[in-house]
Amino acid sequence: MIVVGFNWPVEHDHSVAVIVDGELVFASEEERWTRHKHSPGEPPINALKQAFKYLENKYGIKPKDVDAYAVNFDPKLMPHKLGWFLNDTLDLLGIRRFRAYWYEGKSIISSGLELLSYIIRGDYLSFVEHMIRFVVHDLGEEVLGEVRVVPVPHHLAHAASAYYFSGFTNATVLTVDGYGEYESTVVWRVKNGEFEKVTSLPTYYGSIGLLYEEVSWTIGYDHLEGPGKVMGLAPYGQRSKYYEKLRSYFRFDDGDYPYYITVDGSRPRVVKGGDAVYRRPYRLIADSLFPGRVPWDPRGDLNRDAVDLAWAVQAITEEAMLRLAEWARGHTNEQNLALAGGVALNAKANMVIHYSKLFSDMFIFPAANDAGTTVGAAAYVYEHVLGGRMRRGRLRTVYLGPEYGDDEVRKVVERSRFNAEYIGDDVNEVADLVAKGYVVAWYQGRAELGPRALGNRSIVADPRRADMWRVVNNIKGREWWRPLAPSLLVEDASKYFIDPVPHQFMILMFRFREGMKEVVPAVYHVDGTARPQTVAKDENPTWYELIKAFKDITGEGIILNTSFNLAGEPLVETPQDALKSFALGGLDAIYIQGWLIRKR
Ligand SMILES: [Fe+2]
Repeated sequence: MIVVGFNWPVEHDHSVAVIVDGELVFASEEERWTRHKHSPGEPPINALKQAFKYLENKYGIKPKDVDAYAVNFDPKLMPHKLGWFLNDTLDLLGIRRFRAYWYEGKSIISSGLELLSYIIRGDYLSFVEHMIRFVVHDLGEEVLGEVRVVPVPHHLAHAASAYYFSGFTNATVLTVDGYGEYESTVVWRVKNGEFEKVTSLPTYYGSIGLLYEEVSWTIGYDHLEGPGKVMGLAPYGQRSKYYEKLRSYFRFDDGDYPYYITVDGSRPRVVKGGDAVYRRPYRLIADSLFPGRVPWDPRGDLNRDAVDLAWAVQAITEEAMLRLAEWARGHTNEQNLALAGGVALNAKANMVIHYSKLFSDMFIFPAANDAGTTVGAAAYVYEHVLGGRMRRGRLRTVYLGPEYGDDEVRKVVERSRFNAEYIGDDVNEVADLVAKGYVVAWYQGRAELGPRALGNRSIVADPRRADMWRVVNNIKGREWWRPLAPSLLVEDASKYFIDPVPHQFMILMFRFREGMKEVVPAVYHVDGTARPQTVAKDENPTWYELIKAFKDITGEGIILNTSFNLAGEPLVETPQDALKSFALGGLDAIYIQGWLIRKR
């Protein structure tokens, strides 16, 4: 059986995920194709095309063979359906080729009436079907007969991503994000694939995600990019009046809830309204801390207000997440924890839960943001709607994008006319360059799902050289103060970190052991933490070999690893993207699926 999941309605972080016979075989994010980070307002048309191409090439599966499509929101639960429907309609009709496809053979009047009838019937999923048909038509494939689209409630989709890939039979699952249909934080007890909602916090009262976004906006960043940067900025700040004020909006003492946020003292209830209304309490809170936006240049000197606001929102997030974990542990009585939702990308809050030892094991779905809900929705539909059984087991890698064959890469390299040397899997020379201070782009295989580069679309440098912190941030057009993370041999994790566990996805921080600042200064953040990727040989053999080779030369089984993209761009996807970014960026060399190209 085959299920294809994607995001609907059109929001941000769109992706397409494919489950074949209970196994996640493909996932790709729309941003990698449109080249706009987070793909705001961009329906996942390109990613769906790539999914169909992959299925055809790999398994001979045609679009007509797909049993069901799963989407990550349930319009029935949305309190403001019309606005979302109109948004989606406009997003899709804004695409010229889709518009031509939809209008074909229709008069203006008949297409207008068709739209009106969707609205009257409340048929808010109808455009999903149009989009699928359009993509199939565009690929020159047979246009499908019946298209089965199954909506999955948003937080259930997050929860399913966390549960099915955790390897746990029974688990506490926490889903924490900006907003779903009407809720923003949910505690689940899952037993053998049965999801029970233990408590749910309505968006208006529980959204750590929206609060974090609004405070990030005050600090000077947009909603989607801000929180990740602000987490890195927070350790430069300290406890201040901003923290005290922010904490005054939180209630931690109501036994019915792990926490809630209130601007007027009222207790949680579902509030109906549009996105703007959901955002309103959080904008009010942020404004009460600091009216307007902090006047500073994030690329210049640090600003006291900016860093203390960052400290405040990070501290309250850690506190709320810890309370949530404690409350959940007490109410579910399950000793394994699985996490998803955009707030689960907060690697520092995850670290606080890790070190609390409240749970005996913890899994965070790597694409914790909405790019992962397509995976969860598809998995949920596979089991609960189609009656299949997902293959259980802990997810250890997310190299799920399209494949680029060695021949294809060779042609791209030859056409580039760069002076390239073929070294295959023998990456000693790459390690040698890194140890000599080169900043090297590293490209191989299928792209990673989720926001972190994990050894297939990476930029690597020597973490022992303190200057690499600024050099690499400069090359990538990032603010000088933003932390950089390491990838290390899993067997060496205890040498560098206190109480580490294997963690492949860079969304769980650990504290460095004493003395490590001198050893790996470029990846040692100012609060003595890092969010590392541990690497085992079977997870990514060539990547492992690179770090091993670096260890043979330097004695340190750890390298600096940041995502391979230029400023403001998503991860490179194709070999062409890779060489283009290499040509334009200040990188010294690139390893591209067996080929080594140097600029100096
Ligand atoms: Fe979400």
